Amino acid sequence: MKSDLSVRGMRDYYPDVYSRLQHIINAWRKTALCYGFEEFEGPVIESLDLYKIKSGDEIIRQLYNFTDKGGRELALRPELTPTLARMIAKVQSEAPKPIKWFSIPRCMRYEKPQKGRLREFFQFNVDIIGEEEGLGDVEVISVAIDSLVALGLTERDFVVKINNRDFVSEYFKSMGVSEDISLRLYKIIDNARKVDEQTTRDAIDELNFNQAQKKALDDYLAIKNIQDLKSLSYTNDGKEALIYIFSLLEAAGMDDFCSLDVAVVRGLDYYTGTVYEIYDRSERMRAICGGGRYNHLLKEFGGIEIPACGFGMGDVVLGEVLAEKGLLPAYSRQIDYFLVRITEEELGTLLKVAHSLRQKGFIVEHTYRPLAVKKQMARASKVGANKVVIFGADELGDGKVTEKDMLTGKELKKALTDYIQ
Ligand code: HAM
Repeated sequence: MKSDLSVRGMRDYYPDVYSRLQHIINAWRKTALCYGFEEFEGPVIESLDLYKIKSGDEIIRQLYNFTDKGGRELALRPELTPTLARMIAKVQSEAPKPIKWFSIPRCMRYEKPQKGRLREFFQFNVDIIGEEEGLGDVEVISVAIDSLVALGLTERDFVVKINNRDFVSEYFKSMGVSEDISLRLYKIIDNARKVDEQTTRDAIDELNFNQAQKKALDDYLAIKNIQDLKSLSYTNDGKEALIYIFSLLEAAGMDDFCSLDVAVVRGLDYYTGTVYEIYDRSERMRAICGGGRYNHLLKEFGGIEIPACGFGMGDVVLGEVLAEKGLLPAYSRQIDYFLVRITEEELGTLLKVAHSLRQKGFIVEHTYRPLAVKKQMARASKVGANKVVIFGADELGDGKVTEKDMLTGKELKKALTDYIQ
C-alpha cells in the first residue's frame, strides 16, 4: 500500500465534514450581514515582512514561510488582521467611516496539532475601522455573541471575558514596571490558563519584583468582576472605558454573556484598548474567539492613525463545542427528486424533466447506467430522495408519470406537463 501522502495538521473535508463547516460559516456570514458588515477577502500568500511589523514573536514562530522562485520572502497567512490593515491603508482616506468589514479566511499556523489547534483553520473576522472605543466594540462583541447564539449556544455555554489593555499597561506602569517587563508580564498572564500555577509563579519570580510590586500585582489579579474594578481606588482611562463598555453591554442585553477578566491581555502585540476572549463555560477548551482594539496598527502599515477594533473566531474549538453539545446537524444529501426509468426508451424524456426541474431550483438525480428499476429505487432511498418520479412507456403514451413520496410511500399519477413547462 502507498504511504499516506497527507500533510500533518492539514484537513480533508469529506462532504459530511464540509457540510458541518458550512453550517458554522453560514451562521457567521448571516450574523455579520445582519449588522451591516460588508464581506471582503485578501490573498492567502503575503510578504513575510507584513507579519514582522507587529504580530508578535508567537505568530512569527508559527509562520509557514518560504522563498518563491523569484527569491521573494513570503508567508501563508496565519491571521487576517495584517492583511486588513494593509488593504485599509490604501483606501482609508477616501472610504466613508466607519468601515465595517468581515471575512472568513482559511488561515495556516505552524503549531503543534492538538485538541482545538490545527495547522489549518477557518477564522471569522469582524472589524470596524474609524470608530473610537465604545459602541463599535460592543457591536463587534454582539456579532460574536449572536453568531454563537445562531448556532444554538446560550449564556450557559460560553462567556466573553473582557479586559482593557490600556488599563493593564497603565496599571503596570504605576507599579514602576518598564514597558519591556510589562510585555513579559502580559505573556505570563496570557499563558497562565494553559500552564500549572507553579510555572506562572516561577515566571513572575524571574521578573524580580519588590514587595510593593508583588502586592500591586496580587491586588490586580484579585479583581474578579466589574464591581471589584469600580471599588478599586486606582483609576485610569482604560478602567473608565471598561466600566463604560460594560454599561453599554448591559443596555444591549448582552451582559449575561460577558464578564470582566483581568487575566485576558491577548498574546498579539498590536492590541491597545478593549480586549476579549470567548471560552466555553467548562473552560476545558482553548479560546473560541479572540479580539480587541488596535488603534495604532493601521499607521504602521503606511496609513494614518485611525482607531480600529475586531475579532477572530476559529472553526476548530467552536466545532468541538457544538459537537459536544449535539448542536451540529446530521448530514443529509437533500435530493428533491430521483428520476427512475423503466427502459432506456424513456431516457430522453427523463433528461428533459431533470433539466426543467433543475431550472426551477430543485435538486435532481438519476442513475447513469441502465439499471433494473429495483436498483434505481434502492439508490433513491440511499441518497435520501424526497420524491421519485417513474418514467414508463405505457404511462408516457398518455402523457403521464408516477410520482412516489418516499416518506409516506404514497404514489400519484401526474401529467408530464406538471414538470415540463
Ligand atoms: P488569535 O487569538 O490569534 O487572534 O486567533 C483568534 C481565534 O482563531 C482563536 O481564538 C482560535 O479560535 C482561532 N485560532 C487561532 N489559531 C488557531 C489554530 N492553530 N487552530 C485552530 N484555531 C485557531 C487573531 O488572529 C486576531 N487577528 C483576531 C482579530 C481580528 N483581532 C482583531 N481583528
